[in-house]
Amino acid sequence: MKVNVILSPNNVDDLYFTGKTTVVIDVLRATSVILNALNSKAKEVIPVASIDFAMKISVNSHGGQTLLCGERNTQIIEGFDLGNSPLEFTEEKVALKSIILFTTNGTKAIVKAKYSDKVFIASFNNLSKIAEHLLKLGNDVEIISSGSNGIFCLEDTICAGALAKLMLQKKSDIQLTDATNASLILNEKYESDIKLMLENCEHGQILKTNGFETDLEFCSTVDNIPLIPYFTGSEIKLIKDEIIDNVSN
Ligand code: MLT
Repeated sequence: MKVNVILSPNNVDDLYFTGKTTVVIDVLRATSVILNALNSKAKEVIPVASIDFAMKISVNSHGGQTLLCGERNTQIIEGFDLGNSPLEFTEEKVALKSIILFTTNGTKAIVKAKYSDKVFIASFNNLSKIAEHLLKLGNDVEIISSGSNGIFCLEDTICAGALAKLMLQKKSDIQLTDATNASLILNEKYESDIKLMLENCEHGQILKTNGFETDLEFCSTVDNIPLIPYFTGSEIKLIKDEIIDNVSN
């Protein structure tokens, strides 16, 4: 079993993922939003790579069962129902709804991974559950750090390192690439205070300036949403427990 970390989605093209088992991480804040939406009983999350496409598919939805959500420069997009703060995705607002989500980096990285055999969504909020599931599957794993506008970012790489560490604790003979080793080292440096790391990283500082400090607390919480979201190629849903036991996804 081999674990590779992709330090920016721009380092590979879409076809690279063909047939692979892929995990997408966007700690601030897309993958925490997806987890909280599904935990709040949203029917599904539909990740999109452009605002135009989000608008286009929302036109075909009927009966108020769809919410248009996401951000541009961290702020809610004009005409959208919700922004990109995990805490906005309450059961009251999202239960049974389809969430169309556009974000600057996270949803683009998910869409990019669409040719994978399996795509899972991870953040600090569900790390142990994802590690456990990947070990059960036993496949080689590609972890995408969504980064920031095509550039490396600290928080996603550290989260990737934390995931690799959890896997190594249960299976010490996993083959590691140089990028995974680097992620493990970064995680070791910052793991004692994830919230402080999020406050100090570049995107965390922007979020703080823009009034989203409470999101940093949510996004730094480890294992508070032990769920496994997976991307079918068109929408993100949760793996149900009975499927997890049969390891069919
Ligand atoms: C992204 O996808 O770039 C983020 O989720 C941006 C944000 O903090 O809203």
